[in-house]
Amino acid sequence: MIVNPRSIPSHTRCRRELAERITATADHLDQLRFVCSGTEAVMSTMRLARAYTGRTRIMRFNGGYHGHFDLVQNKDEARMLGAGLDPAAMRSTLFADHNDVASAERLFAAHPGEIAAVVVEPIAANMSLVLPEDGFLPWLREICDRVGALLIFDEVITGFRLTFGPSSNLLGVAPDLTAFGKIIGGCTPVGAFGDRRDVMRLLEEQKVLQGGTLAGNPLTMAAGLAILDELGTPGFYEELERKGALLEAAVEKHRAAHWLALTFVCTGSIFAFIFLPPGTPIRRQEDVERQPRQPYTDLYQGMREAGYHLAPDIEDPMYLSAATTDKAI
Ligand SMILES: Cc1ncc(COP(=O)(O)O)c(C=O)c1O
Repeated sequence: MIVNPRSIPSHTRCRRELAERITATADHLDQLRFVCSGTEAVMSTMRLARAYTGRTRIMRFNGGYHGHFDLVQNKDEARMLGAGLDPAAMRSTLFADHNDVASAERLFAAHPGEIAAVVVEPIAANMSLVLPEDGFLPWLREICDRVGALLIFDEVITGFRLTFGPSSNLLGVAPDLTAFGKIIGGCTPVGAFGDRRDVMRLLEEQKVLQGGTLAGNPLTMAAGLAILDELGTPGFYEELERKGALLEAAVEKHRAAHWLALTFVCTGSIFAFIFLPPGTPIRRQEDVERQPRQPYTDLYQGMREAGYHLAPDIEDPMYLSAATTDKAI
């Protein structure tokens, strides 16, 4: 059938164009579906993984955040069972420690043939900021292949934050499924998920349900296209990195001058203050939680009085934007 492009409704064209522009950013992104939030995107990847593998369990990492549906509610095992949640969801969720191959290996050994997927923030930005150690993500890739589980990258924060596309492009590890959110909708309600065609096919075949009245709505698609135009301007990410480096140098100067017990973690335009002596390994949630709370409270209040609003929660990193001026840094 020959389709006259003019006969395609403009909202469908817009949706297709945004999907094409996002999938063009990474080799592993065969196909993409839009939803209305990051939560929905992650939820759909997990459902797909379960359907594809015929298994139930999902492995995740303490300190990671993947939205607010039952299966992933709360950031660690200790806080998993919030009021109103289905305890069965908890039973199918397994927690390992971030960057800790041994803890993940123990879970794979304890649950052979049961794990449908491993979901991870490739750069963990919900336990302050924790970068992947060399070898951690390649190891996850390798073990998922070995045991037949799917690897899901939750790029709801990192997608289009560090480079024009998913951060997997920088990290050199290709997941089986990716979840996006936030940035790709230019501040409108958005999520998207996708990757392997053979997995996504389960949606087309209607073996896996994915709905959403407002999924891929024209307002969000137009905002997404507009923000991608901005992000795609030459030098956009280099400029953010320059600002990140400027901030790092400024913080380091201050830290050294005042002998502060402070570790500044920064990658591109994401940064976090962790009040532990410089050089302290920051590998997982437990490491971040070791810091005393008062210094960050003092910093937060002092900055507010000076007219700057830092992240109110010590567990949240912060972000430089195109609008952040050198003077503010
Ligand atoms: C890594 C990550 N995944 C998923 C989500 C959920 O996204 P949303 O709040 O759009 O549902 C968030 C939200 O902050 C997130 O940081």
